[in-house]
Amino acid sequence: MSDVLELVDVSVVREGRALVDQVSWSVAEGERWVILGPNGAGKTTLLNIASSYLFPTTGTVQILGEKLGSVDVFDLRPRIGVAGMSVAQKLPGRQTVLQTVLTAAYGMTAGWQEEYEAVDEERARAFLDRLGMNELLDRRFGTLSEGERKRTMIARAMMTDPELLLLDEPAAGLDLGGREDLVRRLGRLARDPYAPSMIMVTHHVEEIAPGFTHVLMIRQGKVLAAGPVEQELTSRNLSRCFGLPLVVERREDRWTAQGLALS
Ligand SMILES: Nc1ncnc2c1ncn2[C@@H]1O[C@H](COP(=O)(O)OP(=O)(O)O)[C@@H](O)[C@H]1O
Ligand SMILES: [Mg+2]
Repeated sequence: MSDVLELVDVSVVREGRALVDQVSWSVAEGERWVILGPNGAGKTTLLNIASSYLFPTTGTVQILGEKLGSVDVFDLRPRIGVAGMSVAQKLPGRQTVLQTVLTAAYGMTAGWQEEYEAVDEERARAFLDRLGMNELLDRRFGTLSEGERKRTMIARAMMTDPELLLLDEPAAGLDLGGREDLVRRLGRLARDPYAPSMIMVTHHVEEIAPGFTHVLMIRQGKVLAAGPVEQELTSRNLSRCFGLPLVVERREDRWTAQGLALS
């Protein structure tokens, strides 16, 4: 099958509560999905399943054609690129930007060695260049700004040449310039036919880059809407998702949302 991801009736239950509640969702090759939902909706939990780091309590999961539970996750994980806070926190702050990206080629978060191959270094430099980090290759990861750190993480996630790229709130904490810069770069990546299938979590429609094709909206672990962005990203769906009256607008290829004035 050509599905990149297929969840059937997936639930994650902790302490009697369903953090993810009977989710059925499939992502086909080449699609670029946005997961939208308020804080605590279960977005990161879903990404943890998609990256094979979390097994659901019930339901079945196929990732890149492999069934979770019957595949060796250590074969699967190099095929998936993940950029999110949980990964960033594991990376040593003393490593340089280049080292931080390069270590991903060897599936490591730490342990700089001198035997990296020239070809890997070339790749790391190319990804960093694409993300506008070429002047910061020798900076220590721990000294980077939020935006620089996010861009390094995305370059790092690309390093294993993944078939699936997962981004958890890549624009969180960025200032307006940083956000716009990242949206532009993600848009370029999303429209690149050779780029991997992508899933990006956010809670701001302003962060949806042009080129993202589909949206999954969740609230309290349940799917409210799933499908093409232009079809599902409506005021009605977004209002239900966030639990307040919202108006969604599209201007050229960007989105905005604001609370409905009650007068
Ligand atoms: N290991 C866990 N045990 C119990 N509750 C958890 C655990 N991990 C996350 N949660 C809770 O599950 C809900 C969904 O979390 P999460 O997926 O991180 O939400 P989101 O990323 O949408 O903000 C939250 O209420 C969170 O507190
Ligand atoms: Mg989260």
